[in-house]
Amino acid sequence: MPRVTRRLTEDKRARADAAAVIAEAFRQALEAAEAFAGATAPNPPVGCIALDADGQILACEAHQRAGGPHAEAAAIEACRRAGVLDRIATLVVTLEPCNHTGRTPPCADAILSTPATAVWIGASDPNRRVAGGGAARLAARGLEVRWIESLPRRDAAALARDARRLIAPFGRAARAGRPWLTVKQAVAADGGMIPPPGCKTFTSASSLRLAHQLRRRADAIITGSGCVLADDPAFTVRHVPDHPGKRRRLAILDRRRRTPPAYLRAAEARGFDVALHDDLHALMADLHAGGALEALVEAGPTLMGALLAEGLWDEHVVIRQRAGQPDAVDIRTREPV
Ligand SMILES: NC(=O)c1ccc[n+]([C@@H]2O[C@H](COP(=O)([O-])OP(=O)(O)OC[C@H]3O[C@@H](n4cnc5c(N)ncnc54)[C@H](OP(=O)(O)O)[C@@H]3O)[C@@H](O)[C@H]2O)c1
Repeated sequence: MPRVTRRLTEDKRARADAAAVIAEAFRQALEAAEAFAGATAPNPPVGCIALDADGQILACEAHQRAGGPHAEAAAIEACRRAGVLDRIATLVVTLEPCNHTGRTPPCADAILSTPATAVWIGASDPNRRVAGGGAARLAARGLEVRWIESLPRRDAAALARDARRLIAPFGRAARAGRPWLTVKQAVAADGGMIPPPGCKTFTSASSLRLAHQLRRRADAIITGSGCVLADDPAFTVRHVPDHPGKRRRLAILDRRRRTPPAYLRAAEARGFDVALHDDLHALMADLHAGGALEALVEAGPTLMGALLAEGLWDEHVVIRQRAGQPDAVDIRTREPV
């Protein structure tokens, strides 16, 4: 092979290798962040990886709870503790670094205090106009700022979509002033939503696990008095580990005040902040004011029908029982994510 051609081929391979390193780091950053989805409200879950010049991972951290360090600050601090701060060459972060002082100092400043020369970012900050762009600030200070969707790989668009989905509840709250609404619906083989007498559910063990994963990432559960009266539901996270110390709201739509006081007391004893509500829109404003990013709707056909008819939903999860086969799970997500 002529020397020039060989060099071009080697350059191409090196670029592909470098892109593969960023893609893998980004996937790990997403995974780190997803583990804390449901624990960070009113902040979004965020993951960050610090890489050295050879593409070795120096630190992988996530934002774990509001008031705690942001993912970038945590990754930088982990590098400092490990004595590798001076080796940071690239930071890979799922959400645009913040550029404002909230409960913690701006992440853009933390990044500028490191030797990093490049930052890969998954999603832009939905609060951009309020906060001022962290990406622009870093670029203005000479860092190479790249968005993950520009990664020269076939999976770049999917990585960017995953990053946007991760912060979708935060975006919904910032733009619409209400939590992201996940509506979970179990449908029996006969198409109905009512379990057989004596049963609270008709879905399989794996569907039950999914339902509890949805609860885990929610800051509030929304239900109707009909569901409460029929099922006496616990609404706790049981089939997957919950976030330690997580306290959720339990909002019961109940204009006629049919919910038994004993149910309210028992729900409080299970760790919920419980309240009865009359109006869906007022409830949305109330949940938003309380910092909830995501609410899971687990209700009977009346309330669910009302929400779907109003278009008041963001993710519709349908678990469909099938005779003699595993349940089918259908997830529809509202754009834009
Ligand atoms: N398959 C599933 O996924 C699933 C899930 C949960 C429950 N269920 C089943 O569903 C059955 C109960 O059904 P359901 O339809 O009676 O229960 P529901 O939808 O949970 O609750 C109905 C009550 O919610 C309130 N409500 C509904 N829409 C409202 C709105 N737009 N604004 C304000 N309040 C509203 C009303 O209270 P007021 O009448 O006081 O106004 C209404 O009576 C049970 O058999 C249960 O097992 C199935």
